[in-house]
Amino acid sequence: LSKIEIKLSDIPEGKNMTFKWRGKPLFVRHRTEKEIATEAAVNLAELRDPQHDKDRVINPKWVIVLGVCTHLGCVPIANAGEFGGYYCPCHGSHYDASGRIRKGPAPLNLEVPYYEFPDEDTVLVG
Ligand code: FES
Repeated sequence: LSKIEIKLSDIPEGKNMTFKWRGKPLFVRHRTEKEIATEAAVNLAELRDPQHDKDRVINPKWVIVLGVCTHLGCVPIANAGEFGGYYCPCHGSHYDASGRIRKGPAPLNLEVPYYEFPDEDTVLVG
């Protein structure tokens, strides 16, 4: 119930697309090789909500998170902010390209919903 199926080949590398899922924005981001390498190398000691990138993704090319800032729920802007991921303009929270909070008032990383890849070109969220 209430699942969304997304065709991955519609999302070019380096782009983030926003979908609507269960009444909330859902981000699907096709990361570049550089973003993948950068996020994998982040020192967990620097993180407010320490989580390794590999524990937030199934396939490192794809970041799938709720587009809901963990501060007060605004929708962050993709490919903005100081950490190359997302920026929430409401009160200035910066997230990295794994959706982890790096600076600003938000307490937690962007939430990763349950999802699976039924085939190479499809993600099923929910
Ligand atoms: Fe995002 Fe406050 S709601 S920083």
